[in-house]
Amino acid sequence: MLVSLISSIQITALCPHLNQIKNTFCTVNQTKNHQKIQTPLPVSVKSNKTHFPKSFVRFDTSRAHVSGVNASTEKISRLMNLKEIHFPSHLCKMDSLLASSLLLLISLLSSASFITSDNYISAIGDPAMMNPNIRIAFEAWNFCNEVGEEAPGMGSPRGADCANIYCPLSTDSLGGHLHDNGSKCKVHHMVKESDNMLGAGDKFPVADFTSYTDPDLYAVEKELYLASLCEVNDSADQWHFWMIMLKNGNFDTRTALCPENGNRVSPIITDRKFPCFGEGCMNQPLVYHNRSRAVSSGDQIVSLTGGFYGTYDLDADLSKGVGSNSYFSASWQKNSSTGSWVISHRLTTSSKYPWLMLYLRSDATKGFNGGYHYSGRGIMRKLPESPNFKVKLTLDVKRGGGRNSQFYLLDIGSCWKNNGNPCDGDVLTDVTRYSEMIINPETTSWCRSNNLVSCPPYHINRSGKKIHRNDTSWFPYSAYHLYCSPGNAKYLEEPFDICDPYSNPQAQELVQILPHSEWAVHGYPARKGDGWVGDSRNWELDVGALSSRLYFYQRYDPGTKPAKRVWSSINVGTEIYVSPTGETAEWTVSDFDVLVPEDVTRDGGCYSGSFPKIFTL
Ligand SMILES: *[C@@H]1O[C@H](CO)[C@@H](O)[C@H](O)[C@H]1NC(C)=O
Ligand SMILES: *[C@@H]1O[C@H](CO)[C@@H](O)[C@H](O)[C@H]1NC(C)=O
Ligand SMILES: *[C@@H]1O[C@H](CO)[C@@H](O)[C@H](O)[C@H]1NC(C)=O
Ligand SMILES: *[C@@H]1O[C@H](CO)[C@@H](O)[C@H](O)[C@H]1NC(C)=O
Ligand SMILES: *[C@@H]1O[C@H](CO)[C@@H](O)[C@H](O)[C@H]1NC(C)=O
Ligand SMILES: *[C@@H]1O[C@H](CO)[C@@H](O)[C@H](O)[C@H]1NC(C)=O
Repeated sequence: MLVSLISSIQITALCPHLNQIKNTFCTVNQTKNHQKIQTPLPVSVKSNKTHFPKSFVRFDTSRAHVSGVNASTEKISRLMNLKEIHFPSHLCKMDSLLASSLLLLISLLSSASFITSDNYISAIGDPAMMNPNIRIAFEAWNFCNEVGEEAPGMGSPRGADCANIYCPLSTDSLGGHLHDNGSKCKVHHMVKESDNMLGAGDKFPVADFTSYTDPDLYAVEKELYLASLCEVNDSADQWHFWMIMLKNGNFDTRTALCPENGNRVSPIITDRKFPCFGEGCMNQPLVYHNRSRAVSSGDQIVSLTGGFYGTYDLDADLSKGVGSNSYFSASWQKNSSTGSWVISHRLTTSSKYPWLMLYLRSDATKGFNGGYHYSGRGIMRKLPESPNFKVKLTLDVKRGGGRNSQFYLLDIGSCWKNNGNPCDGDVLTDVTRYSEMIINPETTSWCRSNNLVSCPPYHINRSGKKIHRNDTSWFPYSAYHLYCSPGNAKYLEEPFDICDPYSNPQAQELVQILPHSEWAVHGYPARKGDGWVGDSRNWELDVGALSSRLYFYQRYDPGTKPAKRVWSSINVGTEIYVSPTGETAEWTVSDFDVLVPEDVTRDGGCYSGSFPKIFTL
């Protein structure tokens, strides 16, 4: 054991079961001015052969200077039987906040390769879902991603479940996870049920938030408030929560609730058909909450579990079962063998609510998330930019949700203007951009050689060649479900189809793709049915490379540059499009991670501390 030198800061890292899993959090106990602080330390292990001594590993960090670090590094390496431990090559001049802190980058390397490229690191606050603490929020949207009217007695449709689990550490816990029968573990909740019940006009418990009476504005403020409770400060960039998003596809054109491409219009005159059973069809759901609690599995591994669930049918009594009502649920539990969260989803449509969406979102921790025109909160500390980023996840689709279930093995969302500039909240010129890979094998290609209106003007093939959609011998029509253009684009190539102008607060552009060999080179499914029901898979998707090949509309005026494709939202889930009978989809997501190149997190040659392999004390 490496005994620390005289120090005011001591770290002990307890690394559970590193020989069983590939990527985990070690719990770091930190004593600072006699106060005990627990921080999860993300560690990636590249071999299952790595063995750790059966005792705490203690490193001295009081000498956070290059020479001190080098000395410790060597000893720690020997002690931990590791090939290498990396510390930042040069510790930057830190600002006053960080001056007494230390940045540690530990990369436990061994023979086998784990991440395809050594130089990618996680961009999210909960890398690969390994954090023992839960940070998850819930949001419900009406047809144009707003609230409209709150459901009776439900408050504003934003909620969160953020809890830390503390278990006493003892030496016998070294072999496994947090280890007792739960009796000694404590769960500390950051969000009260009274916070989750806050509704338009209610005063927030702290003064920094405005209690708008407009339900749309209140929801934005409530999300910021909940995020302030859930905030994790384990690096220079705070993060907040995973987001469960639920959306009702009903649209009552007689109300003035949704703008047209961002313009307020009333009444709405359109040939488009939208489902609506009559007055109140755009309602928000009843939402119930199973607060996270500690549970122990058979082998006495203690972890948190909880969930959100509910229905759009305001007269439903779910205590009597779901019946023929609409239903949604998202619940979380730990996979006791891998340590990852397993988020289980269910979505059921009904005759009154035939079009529903339920996604797990990895949203930006600040700024405009895909589909919003205001600042939201999320889990992505570093925004991925095409062409260099990857997404890893395990997706297990248990029920597909019928033939109209547009199941997205990622829906990526961003926003930029038609001149390539980033969005600034001006709904008349901002354009939401989405690209979605639909894996339901029943989804057909609307883009065909005899229906060019649903194809993007061109495709960029694997060899980087631009192929016009009228090039019937080369254009891969079956790689596309549909493409539609933003409603505020002025120079579109004929023929074109405008995307639904109402279902976003501003104009939108959609590129919906299907499994195809053209995309399989980036790790995406090659054939219809890949990754579908009964074919659970662990995907490693080169989303950056794929998204850089997609066509998005831009007007190149003199001096304009191609838009930076920076993605503020990465989602997985399904959109059960208008279905005549109630349909149900069920799926789980685990091991989710967003990986970005290590050097994008360097700031002027310095580590900015904005990524999870580095933690600050
Ligand atoms: C947990 O263990 C303690 C003693 O170690 C025992 O008293 C308690 O009943 C146990 N609880 C459960 C839920 O097994
Ligand atoms: C996180 O850090 C920020 C900036 O240092 C601070 O304003 C905020 O209160 C901290 N939040 C928590 C939950 O500690
Ligand atoms: C909520 O808790 C109840 C009772 O434990 C359980 O039956 C139900 O499956 C849970 N639902 C979710 C979505 O967590
Ligand atoms: C837990 O992970 C293992 C290994 O990946 C997998 O086989 C198992 O199905 C997972 N369990 C759950 C509940 O997802
Ligand atoms: C890309 O398209 C060109 C024709 O423009 C063709 O020669 C080439 O073989 C295509 N590459 C692939 C991988 O299909
Ligand atoms: C295909 O479209 C391009 C661009 O609009 C046009 O220049 C070309 O003439 C078209 N080719 C055919 C065969 O229609």
